[in-house]
Amino acid sequence: MSQPRDHWSSNTGLVLAATGSAIGLGNLWKFPFITWENNGGAFVLVYLICIAAVGLPIMMAELLIGRRSQKSAVGALKDAVASKWPAGRKLGALAGGWGVLAGFILLSYYTVIAGWSLYYFTKSLSWTFGGYPVGMLPGDLFNGQALNTGLQLLLSLGFSLGTIAVVYFGVSKGIEKIARIFLPILFGILLLMLVSALGMSGSAEALGFIFRPNFSELGMEGILEALGHSFFTLSLGMGAMITYGSYISRKHSVVKASGAIVALDTIIALVATVIMFSVIFSVAGMREEISGSTVGMLFISLPELFYTEVPFGVVLGPLFYVLVALAALTSTISLLEVVSAYLIDERGLTRHKATIGAGAAIFVFTTFAVLSIPGLLGVSAEGLLSTMEIFDGKIGWFATADHFVSNWMLPTGGFFITLAAGWFMTREATKSELMDGTEPRWFKYGAWRFFIRWVAPIAVAAIIVFVIRGVDFS
Ligand code: TRP
Repeated sequence: MSQPRDHWSSNTGLVLAATGSAIGLGNLWKFPFITWENNGGAFVLVYLICIAAVGLPIMMAELLIGRRSQKSAVGALKDAVASKWPAGRKLGALAGGWGVLAGFILLSYYTVIAGWSLYYFTKSLSWTFGGYPVGMLPGDLFNGQALNTGLQLLLSLGFSLGTIAVVYFGVSKGIEKIARIFLPILFGILLLMLVSALGMSGSAEALGFIFRPNFSELGMEGILEALGHSFFTLSLGMGAMITYGSYISRKHSVVKASGAIVALDTIIALVATVIMFSVIFSVAGMREEISGSTVGMLFISLPELFYTEVPFGVVLGPLFYVLVALAALTSTISLLEVVSAYLIDERGLTRHKATIGAGAAIFVFTTFAVLSIPGLLGVSAEGLLSTMEIFDGKIGWFATADHFVSNWMLPTGGFFITLAAGWFMTREATKSELMDGTEPRWFKYGAWRFFIRWVAPIAVAAIIVFVIRGVDFS
């Protein structure tokens, strides 16, 4: 007997859950780093254009595909393709399955980094009360924990269990409830940190770096990176938003929700970047030290700086890692939901069985990611490494998975979604989903249709062409 489908209890519930999915390590970890690598200003501007011209239309497409069919990724894409082309159901199913696989793979390594936030939370709490240890090298601390395989397994197991526990309770009683509590806390912590960071001496320089465009600094790869990241940060291209869309009831607006999700995700990424750069620019010599890796920023440079530089850092330090953990958790639950919802909708499993089964299977791959860390850190060569090189060495499950998901799976999945919404679904079908009386006045259906049929697919196809030609932007 199938149960009636669970739904978000309100528009706010949907927006908070989907925003929670979008805001994650991509905002706090990846975006500041690629902004740094691409010299700020111009890159940020291009990123904003990609978000508006490609990310927003695809966000609406995913939510509407899900809402229309009331099924998760596989079933929804099957229905979408079949609306004009009944024989194409298989292709839709394949694309949905591709997304489920992407969710599975991404979750397997995302959990590992998420686990680090738990370690740093407990550490920073102990520094808050006991003082930051004199003479400790931050790099050694990071390496020590990352190379401790037992500890890594424990941390990622903890994070996986947390994720499973939320998804186990379902959409309105699990995912939405957690988002309603955690997102306001997350916003509050970021606001406190922003106030503190803006008071630091480097904040003016940081704002200039981020918001003053200088196009001579930006190359083609930077533009592709901006485009690719707009998929990752908005949780697009793998059916996560299709799945969340399938829990939207008729009363709630796809357009309004999309606008709010995309705006919040973008604001949070920018705020996080302003905070981190204000700290970095305030400390002499920090700029040079950062130049290697974003892991360096989040888990090596920042912990010490909280205790030496940041106003109210003793309070903000532990809070910051709570923030990272909450942001990551609301993302991991949506990743697990993609896989679980597939098992529930398409394979007839109960939610409890689907969640525990998928969570356990994914954790097997998480252990592969953990075991590949020493290789990533290049330990064999020198014992302990210069941590700035992490992930540049692309070895093991961890690096392979990230490369494959960001470069191949999300763009190809996203491309298919633009085709499904722009070309396979009828005009009447998409119009009735978007123009249902709940849409805001700024929304023009014709503009959306133009972007989803032409602008978005061409832009995404460009990523794919460059990736085929060997460009790597993961
Ligand atoms: N958006 C998440 C972040 O910024 C990462 C992510 C990509 C994701 N695709 C997803 C999360 C799908 C949930 C579901 O960190």
